[in-house]
Amino acid sequence: MENKRVAVIPGDGIGPEVVSEALRVLDRTRETHRLSIELAHFDWGADKFLSEGITLPPGALDMLSSEFDAILAGAFGDPRVPSNKHAEDILLGIRRGLDLYINLRPVRLLDARLTPLRDRQTADIDFVVFRENTEGAYCGAGGFLKKGTADEIATQEELNTRRGVERIIVAAFEYARATGRKRVTMADKSNVQRFGGDLWQRVYREVSLGYPELEANHQYVDAMAMFMVLDPKQYDVIVSNNLFGDILTDLGAAIQGGLGLAASGNIHPGRVSLFEPVHGSAPALAGKGFANPLGAILTLAMMLEYLGYKTASEAIEKAVRESIVNSETTRDLGGKLSTEEVGEAVSQRIQTS
Ligand code: NAD
Ligand code: IPM
Ligand code: MN
Repeated sequence: MENKRVAVIPGDGIGPEVVSEALRVLDRTRETHRLSIELAHFDWGADKFLSEGITLPPGALDMLSSEFDAILAGAFGDPRVPSNKHAEDILLGIRRGLDLYINLRPVRLLDARLTPLRDRQTADIDFVVFRENTEGAYCGAGGFLKKGTADEIATQEELNTRRGVERIIVAAFEYARATGRKRVTMADKSNVQRFGGDLWQRVYREVSLGYPELEANHQYVDAMAMFMVLDPKQYDVIVSNNLFGDILTDLGAAIQGGLGLAASGNIHPGRVSLFEPVHGSAPALAGKGFANPLGAILTLAMMLEYLGYKTASEAIEKAVRESIVNSETTRDLGGKLSTEEVGEAVSQRIQTS
């Protein structure tokens, strides 16, 4: 396979710690699976913003799309930047700027001991969320009137385009068809959000007609939050807008064992795509060796699958599962190991193909 190029952006807080462990696993996988991957590191994050005033450097998007096949990122967010300006420019800037319209977030219970839900087996929690990733409440539209006065008004708009809604719904159905899933559930709040919700409803019905073998199911997002706790087994593929998808996937992370385990890909099929753990920079954990690197390592596995290294990706997932079953985990999963020790344990479990 031709050489693949990956841009690595460790970011802030625990980002660099968990990305280091993902790269340790990548190094091991290079040996076991003869991967041909070249890395380039970028120091974009809070430190650079605070010292140089630079967030996403000029020309970065063109450089990423012309020179790289994928991007592996840690997390962005720092208490010294309360506006979150750099994270918005870098993370949301890459998602939007590279038009990475699918935020793919698997929710899978790897070991029954990890879920906070009672009496659940691994097969009960196994679904994938397709979060719309370029519009909705994240469009940045809105404004203030009479700011700073007692009569202040703030508007925060949500943008739903026919094209944007259609392509994420189609992606969810296509994925369900390709992977043999049976049901696609769309979550919205169309009982209140009459306009955007109406568009999502119409497009969902139209698209679903092209997939007669799949069950097209709809739930209001508040009910979905409840059912995700009470009956997660019913879900195969979930599709939702940017904000609801964000919230639902932290809940999804919780039921699979916590944010430290959750992986994601920001994808535009066929183009350079961004892979990052779902969790943030967890500033209180940074530098202590407590951060769970498994979300970042599972994110690496998603990235390798995207790059065409399916066997290597599966080998990493298997190694992660074995590490968890053998309690080679950080304290958030009930183990006693440090971030580095978990990375090392997973690396050692990866077998030559
Ligand atoms: P967070 O995900 O950083 O942390 C939430 C909770 O989960 C904390 O208790 C934390 O200790 C725990 N946690 C998260 N990742 C963990 C890991 N790998 N191992 C063990 N425990 C882990 O979310 P937050 O506290 O709401 O946000 C902190 C900062 O991160 C903010 O600046 C926020 O904007 C940013 N953030 C960034 C991203 C991203 O870059 N993709 C995602 C979410 C939040
Ligand atoms: C995520 C995060 C981001 C989001 C923040 C940090 C902008 O919560 O990736 O889930 O809201 O998308
Ligand atoms: Mn989030």
